[in-house]
Amino acid sequence: MNLINSSLTHAALLTAGTFALLTTGTAVAGNLKPLPDNVTFSEHVAPILFNNCTRCHRPGEAAPFALMNFDDAKKRSRQIAEITHKRIMPPWHAEAGHVEYANERRLTEDQIALLGAWHQQGAKPGDPAKTPALPKFPEGWQLGKPDLVLKMPEPFEVYAEGKDIYWNFVLPLNLPEDKWVRAIEFRPSARSVVHHALYYLDTSGDARKFDARDPKQGYNGMSRSNRQFESLGGWAVGGEALLLPQELAWHFPTNADFVIQTHFHPSGKVEYETSTVGIYFADKAPTRKFAMLQLPPLFGRLNGISIPAGATNYTVKDSFVTPVDLEAFSVSPHAHYLGKTFLLTATPPGGKTQTLLKIANWDFNWQEDCEFKNRIPLPKGTRLDAVITYDNSAENPNNPTSPPKKVKWGPMSTDEMAALTLSVIPARNEDIAALKKAKRERSIDLFIDRALEDTRNTERIQLMKATFDKNSDGKLDDEERPALRAFLETSGMLKGVTDGGF
Ligand code: HEC
Repeated sequence: MNLINSSLTHAALLTAGTFALLTTGTAVAGNLKPLPDNVTFSEHVAPILFNNCTRCHRPGEAAPFALMNFDDAKKRSRQIAEITHKRIMPPWHAEAGHVEYANERRLTEDQIALLGAWHQQGAKPGDPAKTPALPKFPEGWQLGKPDLVLKMPEPFEVYAEGKDIYWNFVLPLNLPEDKWVRAIEFRPSARSVVHHALYYLDTSGDARKFDARDPKQGYNGMSRSNRQFESLGGWAVGGEALLLPQELAWHFPTNADFVIQTHFHPSGKVEYETSTVGIYFADKAPTRKFAMLQLPPLFGRLNGISIPAGATNYTVKDSFVTPVDLEAFSVSPHAHYLGKTFLLTATPPGGKTQTLLKIANWDFNWQEDCEFKNRIPLPKGTRLDAVITYDNSAENPNNPTSPPKKVKWGPMSTDEMAALTLSVIPARNEDIAALKKAKRERSIDLFIDRALEDTRNTERIQLMKATFDKNSDGKLDDEERPALRAFLETSGMLKGVTDGGF
């Protein structure tokens, strides 16, 4: 993370503090509370840190140091003041002021002013008796003790240098009876090299067969895709485990194996990864069904992404009109290092456009799943619009390539992807089929659009048009598409295009 550019001096902090004092009580100028003359760790700082930071800043969690007591905080009082003022910590990239998120990590202006004033006043301990007790954090797990723990049988070696590795690990569940699952928590052991992990459920036995083909643990993820398996979400750097809403759950039958596809990014030294997965059961079957709605589908694979070297505002757009009444409960953005901004809006028929997610400063290190505090109704006919931009210039400090090169869609972290993924619940369980059909058609349409642009294939394009462009206007209109879609579906040409859970 590119942090402290120390433009924020003591003077600036003092000014911020003074501003807070001056504006107290003048409702017009702001709503900051008056700052106490004597800001102390025990009374003012500890409650903020314990409730907003310690969850990650404790042994065994993602952050590189603990923030659990006065000494921990005193050592870094200046850094804490600076990075909270800049809102780099707690990490949270969704812009405020649009919709509310249940898992938002954001300090109030008052809290930020208090942390600044504490540093300013010499980071005093205060009366230790007044320090609140540390919240009870579940030992070793974010969600508490899992009902079932899966562990890789042996460590997997990640070489020091070389290309990114995609590797699949098969963890048999051996369930004595069918189960419903509400949460999956992933714990990497070598956090510096595990970039992300995707989870799948295999009930076909194929994953075991792939694994058995060589003596090595698991199987290569680049040569085999897991798209025939059910997708169960995943974990990315900085991610926190999430519980599915109460009335939802995944079905885990007795013959299911859990498959993890892990993306490793070598760190410069050899590392060994032994992942652990915690599974949390639901006590009863879910009453509702849910699905993922991704814009663009397949992480942008069908959008012809090709970002010229030096481009500062390359844009990927996608739209989808909801075919049935839906409610959205979370949204998660995905791009790699060149990602710059994200915007997802929803416009109900005849209604006002609402922003569901806006990120002005994307950071690849924080792939946040943003849970809506209140479900967002997306009545049938709602238009969803996604806009994702990229900066492939040398001025982008996160650009992994210097000088910049043209970047296309691909699975490596130096390639790019594009997606805003909404988790949605159809108003009626039976509508899930109509939703899946609309998603499938959307992917096929993108496939057709790409094919029509592909100048290497003029003959095929001519043939496609000759057969399906009934009104001979040189285009494939909405009315002409169903026949072409049906043809493509039976042709076998769509292999891998319309399945995969998105
Ligand atoms: C969701 C987990 C999470 C939360 C919540 C969180 N942090 Fe962090 N913090 C991290 C991680 C991970 C890093 C290391 C980031 C990196 O180096 O890229 C970090 C780094 C830092 C750093 C060092 C930055 C540097 O580059 O040296 C400071 C200081 C810090 N956090 C303070 C805080 C404070 C103060 C809070 C609460 C107001 C907080 N953090 C909340 C995960 C978290």
